Amino acid sequence: MIDNNKILEELDIALKSVIDIESFTKIKVEYLGKKGLIANLMHEMRSVEDKKSYGQKVNVLKEAIEEKIKFIEDEMNKIKMKEQLMKDAIDFSLPSRKMEPGIQSVLLATAREIEDIFLKMGFEIAIGQEVESDFHNFEALNLGEHHPARDMQDTFYIDPKTLLRTHTSNIQSRTLSTNKDKEFKIICPGKVYRRDDDDATHSHQFFQIDGLVVVNKLSKHTASLQDLKTTLTIFAKEIFESDNLDIRLRPSFFPFTEPGVEVDVSCSICQGQGCGFCKNTGWIEVLGAGVIHKNVFKISGFNEEEFTGFAFGIGVERIALLKHNIEDIRNFYQNDLRFIKQFKK
Ligand code: DAH
Repeated sequence: MIDNNKILEELDIALKSVIDIESFTKIKVEYLGKKGLIANLMHEMRSVEDKKSYGQKVNVLKEAIEEKIKFIEDEMNKIKMKEQLMKDAIDFSLPSRKMEPGIQSVLLATAREIEDIFLKMGFEIAIGQEVESDFHNFEALNLGEHHPARDMQDTFYIDPKTLLRTHTSNIQSRTLSTNKDKEFKIICPGKVYRRDDDDATHSHQFFQIDGLVVVNKLSKHTASLQDLKTTLTIFAKEIFESDNLDIRLRPSFFPFTEPGVEVDVSCSICQGQGCGFCKNTGWIEVLGAGVIHKNVFKISGFNEEEFTGFAFGIGVERIALLKHNIEDIRNFYQNDLRFIKQFKK
């Protein structure tokens, strides 16, 4: 006769020894497989007389075995799921991927420094447009249609009367025409364009800061060449961070100034003694300037007899090159991280 209790006790013992899926499967097959215990018992039914009670007993046994097997199977699935979850879990304690903060371009940083120096001297910032009319870029600055000085400032034309500005002096003319017969002190930063081939000292796009001081001759303010020199000396000392630096004005020509001057700074490398850097002159050319030409006032509708002033145009690249000892202007535009990272603060 079959002893259900004994069989189930044996099964319990066997299941206790399960250590992995293999040992479990082996037991499952032994009891419920095609050639397993239950299958054998069913097979033996042929030779049993009381088939009904025998069949019932085997069925009860089968269900009890299935239940025990299923219990273990469920437990094993739970463990497997737990393991899987642990494996996929996000470890919040891991350090995050590092995002380096950006670095301000040395060119923009230089422009901001220049702006700050003039803001401290009471200048205001005026902004203008990069796409400009021929009138404001040239004519209003005393560069008539066939003026030969236009050749030095060839640019990109949108149409014969509209162009990409060649200098931020266009803002001078715009500010003059909207502030007739008023005094003001402005600096005009921005991008400018020239039809130049790029090389170590030229770029088809670069950055300028123009300055303009306008005074009424009858007011208490003055804007003479001497004032220009004083203003630019303060600027040079601050931007090159040197107290014993000097500047000099050399006669030059700009159609919008009379007189026009080229401004040199004493060479910081040899203290004006002459070296390779300053080509043995002791001086380094930094910017153009001058007293505002009467025609510029006149064209903008100012009373040219009553007003006077000075102007200057700073090339920001030039200052940044000198300040940081950079050899090639193209470095500012090539986005080479090795160059950019040198200016990390
Ligand atoms: N606009 C000139 C240039 O781009 C620079 C300049 C010279 C500006 C003299 C001025 C100035 O305002 O007075 O070459």
